[in-house]
This record gives sequence, structure tokens and C-alpha cells, in this order.
Amino acid sequence: MTKIAVANGDGIGPEIMAAVLSIFKAAELPLEFEFVDMGKWVFDKGYSNGMTPEAQQTIESLGILFKGPMETPKGKGVKSINVTARKTWNTYANKRTFQTLHGVDTVFSKAGIPIDITIVRENIEDTYGGIEHMLTHDVALSRRFITRPGSMQVIKYAFEMAKKKGARRITCGHKANIMKLTDGLFLEVFYEVAKEYPELNADDVIVDDLCMKLVSRPDLFDTVVLTNLQGDIVSDLCAGLVGGLGFAPSANIGDHISIFEAVHGTAPDIAGKNIANPTALLLSGFNLLRHIGLMEPSNMIENALLYTLESGVHTGDFGDKSTPSLNTTAFAEAVISNFGKKPTHNARPFIPNQEPTQTHFKLEKNPMLESKDEGTVSIVGVDMFIESNLQPMAVADKCLHHTANLFKLVTISNRGTQVWPKGSSFTNLVNLYCARFESLGDVAVTQVDIMELYKRLSQDFKICSTELLDMWGDKKAYSLAQGQ
Ligand code: NAI
Repeated sequence: MTKIAVANGDGIGPEIMAAVLSIFKAAELPLEFEFVDMGKWVFDKGYSNGMTPEAQQTIESLGILFKGPMETPKGKGVKSINVTARKTWNTYANKRTFQTLHGVDTVFSKAGIPIDITIVRENIEDTYGGIEHMLTHDVALSRRFITRPGSMQVIKYAFEMAKKKGARRITCGHKANIMKLTDGLFLEVFYEVAKEYPELNADDVIVDDLCMKLVSRPDLFDTVVLTNLQGDIVSDLCAGLVGGLGFAPSANIGDHISIFEAVHGTAPDIAGKNIANPTALLLSGFNLLRHIGLMEPSNMIENALLYTLESGVHTGDFGDKSTPSLNTTAFAEAVISNFGKKPTHNARPFIPNQEPTQTHFKLEKNPMLESKDEGTVSIVGVDMFIESNLQPMAVADKCLHHTANLFKLVTISNRGTQVWPKGSSFTNLVNLYCARFESLGDVAVTQVDIMELYKRLSQDFKICSTELLDMWGDKKAYSLAQGQ
């Protein structure tokens, strides 16, 4: 018997979870369910992370959480319970599979174009760190962290998964043409890992082009790996390709703890009516079963589900409107009644059970803290983000006044566009400038020099933020302003 933690969730969560567990129980799976208190209702009781300490302990000791959707409490400063869970337990890879389901009509199924796409989305970093500051009353800043070890973890997972399922192609979606350092790093790591998998056809596509291609020729894609925000958007696009959120499963995979849930939310508009579609949660359940090695019963139940869909059985959100829809409970009963049957299309083969892939042990040390040695690092300057509503020339005059004999003022930019020493009178300005100072000559500068500059500039400006300009050998570890 394998024990797994189960959280019903909010809204339609308890209804669809009851339906899915009734299917699992009818299949007599060697599983024991330990229910944990987690969700908006737990948050309302005063637990700020949306779970009780007992729930946290249970999930951490069992390593597998099967969860219903959870409502994000409204209000500033309140973080999503779902995002907190994924980040706390380092479930770094979000895997979402999108497949043509016969009985679920879409533009593509009608045109006979098959879809079988797996999106692997980085799940921890990017703008989801939620590290945001108002630098002035008019300017908000979000810090977007993309890290080498974080990218490595998720990309390695994607390649390993693609290899196991015999993927035709693995594609990196990115915007490295614009975000040269962040998305550039993700792309660089992708091709580094690709070298270890010569049997896989690895390529990359700029994310906007990827979206266009996904809606015109989705059958050309197999496994796609993306950073967090882009992956979030692209995976919802893919959900639309196969019939909507009711059919989109998701697995949040970590080395120690993994979370299985549907992509959709709590559907407050239909909660409590027993009419929600449990398919996405059931598909997520198949991911869970396979994760713990239960291939055989997972494929048996999936065949029953595919058979049920093929025979036209449906809940209210999809299918032939001229035939009556079933409620959540009746839909689950229909799947159970079809145990042992095989669908005409895409029947899952018999695969014997396997050893679980996840090793469950406590994180004793943080291997990601150890960085690959990049050689010598020297500080050659600093970007000072200063609040001012003066014109660029006046800002430059004040900066120059304070920097004599200390630093060279190289450029001033506004929203990333250079406005000094050259610029255009057509560039619109906001009240936050970035003044870039570099060392005089070839000498490296120290943080003490920078503090002296900070002290001097602060006589005239509010300095909202600073960033060091590093050189790694002869490579700049910072981007240039547009026009610089
Ligand atoms: P939603 O996914 O709950 O609903 C969007 C639309 O899809 C609604 O019309 C809903 O009725 C329909 N829908 C969703 N799932 C369905 C199902 N299984 N069967 C039939 N129809 C279904 O998205 P919304 O309204 O933006 O979010 C509601 C709440 O859910 C929010 O508090 C949000 O933060 C939370 N949420 C939680 C997620 C999670 O727990 N992983 C994911 C997304 C949202």
C-alpha cells in the first residue's frame, strides 16, 4: 500500500475529488488516502500559508500530494496557496499533457489533426518570485530571476521525460532575442543539456512564433519546455487546443515532493451543484499513478475514460448538447462501468507496474548553492536608478558634477532606452532614470567607491535601486541600454 496525501480544495474541489477517488477505489488500487487540511477555508482560520502544520508534516512525510483547486484569497500581500506550495516544496517542473480526446470536439479533431503535446514549465523562478517594488509613484519594478541551476533542473527533467516517452522532438520556447541574459541563459542551458541526448531532435522557437505555430500546426510539436510565465500562457493556449480547461491535467514534479492537480481553478460559478467535469483531475490522477509506478491500473482506467468519452457521455461543459449531460457523480459511475473496455482510438497498451521514480528523502544540503566557477569577476561600474522629473541633460549635469575623478558617466536611459549622451526628442520619459557609471580607465572599482558615489549622488537625487556592473573575464555580465 502506498500512502498519498489528498487535499480536497475549494469550490468544485470536493466534488471532483470525490468523483475521482470513487473511480480509484472501484479499481481497488493499492493506495491509502490521507486527507489534509489545505485551502482558502484553512487560510480563513488564520493559517497564512493555507495549510495546517499537521497538513504540512503529512505532505512532507508522504512526498505525494493529490489536490483539488484552491482559491487564492483576495487582497494585497496575500500569496496564492498553490504557488506557495509549489515553491516551498521545490516542485520545479510543471508538466501538462494535452492530447486529442475522441468525443471532445475541437476544431482540430474535426479536421483530423491529432494533438499530443507535453508542456514542461519551469515552476519556481521568473516573475513568480513576486519580488516587486514601486521605485517611484509612477514606476513599478518586477525582478525576474532566471538561474542556471534552476533552469538545469527543469530542462534535465524535460529531456529525461521526453527520452522515456520516445518523443519525436523537444523544443525550447523563449524570448532570448529580447531578454538576452535571462532567456539567453535558459536557452544556453537547454542546448548544453541537449548535447547529452543526441537521440532527441532538439530545437528552439521564439515564444510568439511558437504560439502562432501551435494554433496553426499543433501536430508538429511534441515536448516543449519554457520559463514560468511563458509556460503558463502557452499551456493554457494548449488547453484550448484540446477542448478547454476541463481536459488539462498537471503534475508539479520535484525531487522529494510532487503535487498532482488539474490546471483549472475552483470554478465558483458552478461550485456546489455537482455538475463539474472531473476529467482534468482524473487525468492528473493518471500522472500520479504512473509517477508511483502503477502503470497497469492507470492505463486500464484511462482506457475506460477514453471509451466513456468516445461513447458520447459528457458533463455539461462539453459534448453533444442534444444528448443529456451527466452530473459529476454519474460521470464517474459511467467510467467505472466501463472498466475493462478499450476505446477505438488511442487505446493505452498494457504496461506492467514499475518502481516509483521519485526518491523520497529530506533535503539535507542545498546542492544548487554550489556554482560552476566562472573565473575572475571584477566590478567595472554601477547602474544607479534615480528618481527625477528633470530633462536628461539636466540629470546628466548633476551626475557629472558628482562623479569627477571617481567614475565616468557613460549613458543615461529611461525605460531601457538611451536618452543621454544621444537620444531622441521623441522618446517619452517617466520619472525614473538609469545612470550608468563606469570606472575611469581599466581599473576595477570597489564597493566602497560605489558607496562614495551613492553618498554624493544622494545629495541631489533619491536613488531607488542600484545594480553592480560585473565583468566575467572579458564578458559583460549586464545588458546594454537600447541605443547605447
Ligand atoms: P476557473 O478555472 O476556476 O474557471 C474558469 C471557467 O472554467 C469557469 O467558467 C468555470 O466554470 C469553468 N471550469 C473550470 N473548471 C471546470 C470543470 N472542471 N468543469 C466545468 N467547468 C469548469 O478559473 P477562475 O474563475 O479564474 O478562478 C477561480 C479561482 O480558482 C480563483 O480563486 C483562482 O485563484 C483559483 N485557481 C486555482 C488554481 C489551482 O488551484 N491550481 C488554478 C487556477 C485558478
